[in-house]
Amino acid sequence: MKRDANPVRLRRLATDDLSAAEVEAIRSLLFAAFGADEEERFAEDDWQHAIGGMHFVLDLDGEIVAHASVVERELHVDGRPLRTGYLEAVATTPEHQGKGLGSIVMRDVEAYIQDRFELGALGTGSHHFYERLGWRTWRGPSSVRTDSGTVPTPDEDGYILVLATPSSPDFGLAAPISCEWRPGDVW
Ligand SMILES: CC(C)(COP(=O)(O)OP(=O)(O)OC[C@H]1O[C@@H](n2cnc3c(N)ncnc32)[C@H](O)[C@@H]1OP(=O)(O)O)[C@@H](O)C(=O)NCCC(=O)NCCS
Repeated sequence: MKRDANPVRLRRLATDDLSAAEVEAIRSLLFAAFGADEEERFAEDDWQHAIGGMHFVLDLDGEIVAHASVVERELHVDGRPLRTGYLEAVATTPEHQGKGLGSIVMRDVEAYIQDRFELGALGTGSHHFYERLGWRTWRGPSSVRTDSGTVPTPDEDGYILVLATPSSPDFGLAAPISCEWRPGDVW
C-alpha cells in the first residue's frame, strides 16, 4: 500500500466531538507519557481539567501520538480579570518524543490562544519546552481565589508560564496572579 505523503495530521476537536475511541486513545497516551511516578502521574482530576474546551490531536500514520487541550479560565493579574486560555494535558507518547511532534501541537495551540484569549497560561516543571516557544515564567506571587478568600499557592511560584496575546494588557511578570479554585491541582 502506498504510504501517505504526509503521515502527520493535526486536528482541533471540542471535547464533545471526540469519539469514545479517541478519548480512550488520548487518555492512554497521557497515562503513558506522564508515567507511574506518584508526583508526576496523570490522574483523573487532570483529565477533568483537560475537558470542556478544545483538544489538539496529532495523528502519526493514523495513530494519536500527541495531544494538548486548552480550556477557558479566569486568571487575575494584579487584580484584573483576564479571559485566559489555560493549557492542559500536553504530551507525546514516549516512543515518539523528541521528534518535534509536541512542538507542532504547541504552534497550533499558540495560534488558537492568540486569536481568542487575553492571556495563555499553564503550570509546568518543563520550562525549557515552553520557553523556547515564547512562553515566559511568571515571577510574581500566585494564589487561588476560594469562597473563603484568596489563598497563596507558594508551591506553584516559578512553575506558572504565560503567553501574551494581541489582546493582553501591559503586565509585568512580577505582579500577583490568581486563578479560580477547582478540585485537584488548582494551577
Ligand atoms: C514535554 C513533551 C510534551 C515534549 O514533547 P516532544 O514531542 O518530545 O517535544 P519536541 O520534540 O517537539 O520538542 C523537543 C524540545 O523540547 C525539549 N523538551 C522535551 N521534553 C522536555 C521536558 N520534559 N522538559 C523540558 N524540555 C523538554 C527538548 O529538549 C527539545 O528542546 P531543544 O529543541 O531545545 O533540544 C513530552 O516530552 C512529554 O510528553 N513529556 C511527558 C509529559 C509532560 O511532561 N508534559 C508536559 C508537562 S506540563
